[in-house]
Amino acid sequence: MTFEADHKYISQKLYIGKEMLYLTRDEVISLGIREEDILKLVKEALIAHGKKEYEMPAKIGIHPYEEVFYHAMPAYVPSQKAAGMKWIECYPNNPTKFGLPQTTGLLILNDILTGCPIAVMDCTWITAMRTPAVTVLAAEALHEDAETFAMFGCGVQGTEHVKYVVHTLKNLKKIYIYDIREEAMDKLIEEVQPKIDVEIIKGESPEMLAKECEVLSSATLIIRTPLSVVKDEWVSKGQTILPCDLNTYWDPKITKRADKYIVDSIEEHELFEEMGYFPDGLPEIVAETGEIIAGIKPGREDKDELIVCSNIGMAVCDVVVAREVFNRALESKVGVKLPL
Ligand SMILES: NC(=O)c1ccc[n+]([C@@H]2O[C@H](COP(=O)([O-])OP(=O)(O)OC[C@H]3O[C@@H](n4cnc5c(N)ncnc54)[C@H](O)[C@@H]3O)[C@@H](O)[C@H]2O)c1
Repeated sequence: MTFEADHKYISQKLYIGKEMLYLTRDEVISLGIREEDILKLVKEALIAHGKKEYEMPAKIGIHPYEEVFYHAMPAYVPSQKAAGMKWIECYPNNPTKFGLPQTTGLLILNDILTGCPIAVMDCTWITAMRTPAVTVLAAEALHEDAETFAMFGCGVQGTEHVKYVVHTLKNLKKIYIYDIREEAMDKLIEEVQPKIDVEIIKGESPEMLAKECEVLSSATLIIRTPLSVVKDEWVSKGQTILPCDLNTYWDPKITKRADKYIVDSIEEHELFEEMGYFPDGLPEIVAETGEIIAGIKPGREDKDELIVCSNIGMAVCDVVVAREVFNRALESKVGVKLPL
């Protein structure tokens, strides 16, 4: 579809330049976009990224105090007619201090032909969905036959990761979870176990999970100084580690000695390094996640390879999912049209 045709399609339902669609979190969720749909959309975004068919400057941010950040995340994915920007906040203490999510935000979409804003939507759900989709697509590309999966952190992201992982790791027999909060593990099991056939087991300790599982992921918190919870000596050859919380959870020695260190975006990781994350320096990066998914660079080449694949989050995934949200909302007349 050309930009003109896309503009025409939107114009049939929205007065471009005069109004935009506002979608609340509940309205976004109500559109019935399934995990399978998200996986398909995110895969397309990752392939576009791998083929360098996108525009996405590295996130810029503000940091009103030490442990928090706001990120501006613009992206354009031509193949999906998706252009826009996510403005996302991460406040690790929100859940305990205020009973609010750690991650909240809004996303703006634009009409590509004219640039006019066409939608503003809550992006908490989009973020909660597209992040595990990236992890589990990477897991599929790097360790498809894994029988054990470990999830560190059982909050919003951890819970969704456990839901998503069964879609791509079809041989899974056991999922081990760990959180410093017992109640978070109980809640995850209560919510997810009825939905999936693979047994979810509460791990006794990070050490047990690190030693037991082939594929491991973490979604805890992002801070500049690594917590190094998972020790280097607990990790062995042949494992695949997929953090979505940067370098916080893992002993930096692990990434340094990994046979392959893959990241979703080299530019983003270098920017984070400049901001003071990775105090021990970024390990050598061999590929981007999208390049692996698109088959441009090799993934696992040997069963003994230790692979770390760090996915910090890319706006290309957000805008592609948001475009689908927008299309569905237009079709089903969900949301409120607001004057510009
Ligand atoms: N990569 C991405 O694209 C992306 C997107 C969204 C969020 N994130 C990151 O994912 C992380 C989790 O986000 P969320 O929305 O799920 O937050 P959340 O607050 O809902 O969950 C975090 C969980 O981690 C647990 N935790 C904290 N420290 C821990 C530790 N030392 N060991 C085990 N568990 C620990 C907490 O108890 C909590 O249950 C954050 O760091 C966030 O920035 C990444």
